[in-house]
Amino acid sequence: MAAETVLVVGATGNIGVAAVKGALQAGRNVLAIVRNQNSADKLIKRVGTSKDITFVEADVASDSGVADVVTKVREGKLPTFQHVYSSGMTWPSPSNTESHGITTDRLRYNLNISFEANFFAYRDTIEYLREQKNSSFTMCTGSQGDLATHPLPAITQGALYSLCLGAARDNLDKSVRFNEVYLGFRVEVDEDAAQHSVVSSTEFGAVFEQLLDRSDIRSARVHVTTPEDMKVLRHARRF
Ligand SMILES: NC(=O)c1ccc[n+]([C@@H]2O[C@H](COP(=O)([O-])OP(=O)(O)OC[C@H]3O[C@@H](n4cnc5c(N)ncnc54)[C@H](OP(=O)(O)O)[C@@H]3O)[C@@H](O)[C@H]2O)c1
Repeated sequence: MAAETVLVVGATGNIGVAAVKGALQAGRNVLAIVRNQNSADKLIKRVGTSKDITFVEADVASDSGVADVVTKVREGKLPTFQHVYSSGMTWPSPSNTESHGITTDRLRYNLNISFEANFFAYRDTIEYLREQKNSSFTMCTGSQGDLATHPLPAITQGALYSLCLGAARDNLDKSVRFNEVYLGFRVEVDEDAAQHSVVSSTEFGAVFEQLLDRSDIRSARVHVTTPEDMKVLRHARRF
């Protein structure tokens, strides 16, 4: 039987690299959405291989970026996929601005790359995933939404919590396993993690690796707030 494929949205970042590594470790192929060839090259360097990875260029922050990728899959121009990992984009600095100092442009930019990119990924793949067997959608959020020590990224994470809760409800009785991975510590690509003494993408990838085969976890929040949580998945439904 052909290996399943995981579509990774935001593939080149700290979390995206963890998702790609986790999927490969779980014996799946990866369909990685990247911005351009430079990003593809960066991903190959960070993952250490291009084996079992198909690259497609798209702007996931645009209204039609992910939708166009799904169209190409339906047309047979790209591999079919059964799972989606979505982490959205970077938190652009300055992220510690007090709320009253946030400009409208900065607010909209942040909402676009951190929230809308995840929303578009969900909205534009969920119908396709419902047509597949044993499919799943996993979204990564951060505890900054509860802490709000950095108001700008916190606002986007708060919106993502609601998106995840709604999607968890929507898919409870559907064929797609929707889950949120709630991350409570800093993860960076391996070379940066070593320098900054934080958790590496490779270590965090173990969460994504396990989730693919955990058919018992659905419509849940997977809490990853201690190193132990990367070994034994701690999950609970929020409703
Ligand atoms: N890292 C953590 O510890 C952590 C903790 C909690 C939650 N999270 C969640 O994970 C998300 C991603 O975090 P991360 O640490 O992986 O971020 P990151 O490493 O900064 O992610 C960078 C990604 O965003 C893309 N990107 C950056 N600016 C963009 C733009 N203007 N338009 C399109 N793509 C753009 C990059 O693409 P290129 O490679 O093409 O530049 C790359 O794929 C966060 O928003 C948050 O929801 C992360």
